[in-house]
Formats: sequence, structure tokens, C-alpha cells
Amino acid sequence: MKIDIATLFPEYFAPLSLSLLGKAQDEGILQFTTHNLRDHAPGVHKSVDDTPYGGGAGMVMMAEPIAQTIDPIIEKDSQTILVIPTPSGERFSQSIAEELSHAQHLLFLCGRYEGIDARIPQYYRDVVQIPVRELSLGDYVLAGGEVATLAMIEAITRLIPGVLGNPDSLREESHVLRDLRKGGERSSSEELLVEYPNYTKPPLWRGLEVPEILTSGNHGAIAKWRLEQAQLRTRAQELK
Ligand code: 6GU
Repeated sequence: MKIDIATLFPEYFAPLSLSLLGKAQDEGILQFTTHNLRDHAPGVHKSVDDTPYGGGAGMVMMAEPIAQTIDPIIEKDSQTILVIPTPSGERFSQSIAEELSHAQHLLFLCGRYEGIDARIPQYYRDVVQIPVRELSLGDYVLAGGEVATLAMIEAITRLIPGVLGNPDSLREESHVLRDLRKGGERSSSEELLVEYPNYTKPPLWRGLEVPEILTSGNHGAIAKWRLEQAQLRTRAQELK
């Protein structure tokens, strides 16, 4: 998968060469490229933002430096998906991560300040006619799209075969998912159960014991206990 990132702060993305993602890049499974929006800013001051029409606080990122940065990156034949992280977007979820993990080419556009000119998503959707996803991590406001982009990239790319160190972890996640679907009830916002609690050695730590069932050797009973725990934890989160 090719991933391009348009940002005012390319340095934010140095961690992409660490750990599993760095390895996947060395192996040619992933290709990350950052593009500095400032490189396409006009004039001596290199400004990329301006005051909002209609007044109000803050600055808005201008459309033209963004377009000049991303136009050459968009490949209609490799079906580029433009992803715009924004707190006003659709809520990012495991099922969206799963969907995007099948893309050939993702282009993340990171906004700062009060956001980007609203004609950017409009233009790429309606005129250039590529898929545009405006996505939010949740109901809080970050200073910019960079941290959200890192989170989304990690959630998406770990689902690509060969990226995750241990594919059993993914298999286990999808088991939990299937078990849940069998049960029928599923909240519309979350498709996944949260994980069951995990324990490792020692069996007694600072007076706290590992649940006995986990050392029983009864794999059927352990699987049942884990599913129940996952359901309890999921329900407890939903009630908050
Ligand atoms: Cl995607 N962007 C920003 N700036 N803030 C957010 C967010 C995204 N998701 C939650 N808060």
C-alpha cells in the first residue's frame, strides 16, 4: 500500500520508520511519503492560511497550496482515496480501518488552525471525482490532523497481511467479532468487543491472583470465560 501524507509538519511522521511499520516499509509492503504543504505556499511569506470569510477567530488553510501539493500525488488509476482527518468527520472505527486496509493508495491531508477551506473536499469529490473520507477519531479536538493520521495509519496498516508480527492476534480479534455477531445484538457504533483481561507470570503478584480458570487447562471453559469478560467490559464501556 502506498500512503502519502500532506502536512505542514512532516517531522510528526518520523515514528513511521520505527517498529513494525518501519519493517513493513523496508520489506516493501508499505511506502510512506510526506509532502510539506509549505513548499507550495505563494510569496515571500510562504503563508498557507488566511482569515475566515464571515469573520471569527483563527485562520483557515487556503485551498490552492493544498491543491498544488496533492494534485500531482493523486492517481486516478490506482484509486487514490483522499482521507481528511477532522473533528467534524464521520467517526473512525474498526470497520472503516478494515475497509481502508484494502486500498492501493491513501492520501492523508492534515489540517491545522481552524481547518481547511471547505471547497477542498467538495472539489476532490465532485470535480476530480475520487473518494473523499472526512474522518474523526472521537468527540474531542486535537490541534491538527497529524496525530489523528498516525492513529488511523496504525489501525489500518496492522490489518494488511505481513505488517503485524503475529497474525494470531488478528485471528483472535475476528473470532471475538464473529462470536458477537452470532449473538445478534450489536451496537451500531462499535463492531468489536473490547479485549478480555490478560495475565502473565507470576500467578500471585502483590496479593493479586490470576483467575483460576486460566490455569485450569480447560480450553473450552477458558474461551467461554474470555468471551463473557469481553462482553462485560464492552457493556460497561457502553453504559458510561
Ligand atoms: Cl481527525 N482531527 C482533529 N483536529 N481533532 C480531532 C480529530 C481529528 N479526531 C478527534 N479530534
